[in-house]
Amino acid sequence: MSEQVSQVPVEHFNPQPREVWSNPYPWYQRYRSLDPVHWTLAAERGDAGVWYVFRYEDALAIRAHPCLSRKYRHDRLAEQEIPPAMKPYSDKLRHWMVEMDAPHHTRLRSLTTKHFTSRTVERLRPKLEGLSNYLIDRVLAAGRMDVVGQFAYPMALLTITEMLGMPREDAALFKSWSLTFTAIENRRPTLDLYQRASDAVLEFDAYLKKAIAERRKAPGDDVLSTLVMARNDEQLTDDEVIGTCMLMLFAGHETTVNILGNSVLTLLRNPEQLQLLRAHPELMESAVEDLLRYESPVQSVSNGHASEDFELGGKTIRKGQKVITVFGSANRDPEVFPDPDRLDITRQANRHMAFGMGAHNCLGAPLARLEMRVALETLLRRLPNLRLLSETANWKEGLMLRGLDSLPVAF
Ligand code: HEM
Repeated sequence: MSEQVSQVPVEHFNPQPREVWSNPYPWYQRYRSLDPVHWTLAAERGDAGVWYVFRYEDALAIRAHPCLSRKYRHDRLAEQEIPPAMKPYSDKLRHWMVEMDAPHHTRLRSLTTKHFTSRTVERLRPKLEGLSNYLIDRVLAAGRMDVVGQFAYPMALLTITEMLGMPREDAALFKSWSLTFTAIENRRPTLDLYQRASDAVLEFDAYLKKAIAERRKAPGDDVLSTLVMARNDEQLTDDEVIGTCMLMLFAGHETTVNILGNSVLTLLRNPEQLQLLRAHPELMESAVEDLLRYESPVQSVSNGHASEDFELGGKTIRKGQKVITVFGSANRDPEVFPDPDRLDITRQANRHMAFGMGAHNCLGAPLARLEMRVALETLLRRLPNLRLLSETANWKEGLMLRGLDSLPVAF
C-alpha cells in the first residue's frame, strides 16, 4: 500500500546542516511520505533549484528517462563565461562517461567493461587477499587501528591504482588528487575549491600524458593500455583517456573506502548480525548486499537536466531543471524493503540501488563487491575481538557521498 502523500507544503529540503548529513534517514522518511518528488531551492551544489526524488518507484521510473540528459549541463556551461579557476576542472568533467549521453557514453563504457566483469575481477582475489592480510599484519601488534586510514584507504587505493596500470609508489599522488575531486563533488563548491581541483587536474593531466606515451610504445593488460590502444571508431583522444582514468580513480576509490568503513561500523553496531555472519560465513554474499543498501556510500546522484518538460509523481519537471535521485532514501523505502531500517544479512531479493540504476549503473560493482567480501572475510577471521573505540561516528561532511573520516577500533 502506498504511503499517503500530504498536500501540506513541506519546507525546502536542505542537505547542508550537520544534523541532516550525519543522520539523513529520518529526513528521507519525512520527504518520502510528505513530498516524494520535491522541488527545493536549498540545493546541494549551489544550483538555482533542484528536484529530489526520494521514493524507489520514482527513482526506477527515471533511471533511463528519454527527457533527462547528462550532457545538458555541459552544453549550457559551454555557452557561458566560466571563471578561469573552474575551467580546467569543468573541461575535464565533460569527458567523464557519467556526464555523457548515448552514443558517446556507450562507446566509452563498452571499451572498459571487459576489465570489470565478475570473471575478470575474480582473478584479483589472491592479490586482494594478500593485500588485506598484509594491512592487518602491519597493525596486529598495536592491538588497535583506524579502519578507514590504515585498512580501507590503502586497500581501495592500491587496487584501483594497479588496475589502471600505475606503479604502487605513485598511490600517494593518486590519493591527493582524488581528495581534491571528492571535496568539490561532495560539498557546495567555492572558487577556492575549484582552483584546487583545477590545479590537481593539471598535475594529473601531465602525469597521465607521460603514462599514455609510454603505453603507446609498450602496452600492457591494464585499463590505461586498453584506452590508449583502442582503434578505428573506438579510438579516443588524450582528453577522453585522461577523463576516464580520472573518473575511475575518483569513482573507484572514495566509494570503496567509504563502504568498507561503513560496513565495519554497521556490523559492530549490530552485534547479533555480526555474530550470525561469524557463525555462517556463507552468508557473506547477502551480508554485502544489505550493507550496501543500509549505508550506501553514494547517497544521491544527479540524473541530469530535463531536455523537455515531463511528469513525475504528479509534478511537472520543466525543461532545464536538474533532477537528483536519492539512492540512500530509495534503499530505505518500506514499499520495497520490509523493515528497511534494520540490517538483515539474510535479506533475499535485495534490489537495492547502491550501485545506481540504468545506463550509468556502476561499472566497477563486481570489483567493489569482491573487495568488500575479501576485506570483511579477512577482518572477521583475523580479528575475532574487533570492537569500536568510540560510540560516536565521524561522518564526512556532505550528503552525496556517505563515509567516515576515521573509525578507531581495537582487537
Ligand atoms: C562500493 C563501491 C561503489 C559504489 C557504492 C559505487 C556507486 C556507483 C553509483 C551509484 C554509480 C552511478 C552514478 C550515476 O548514475 O551517475 C556509479 C557509477 C560508476 N562507477 Fe561506481 N561505485 C563503487 C565502486 C566503483 C569502483 C571500484 C569502480 C572502478 C572503476 C567504479 C566505477 C564507476 C564508473 C566508471 C561509473 C560510471 C558509469 C557510467 O557512467 O556508465 N565504481 N558507481
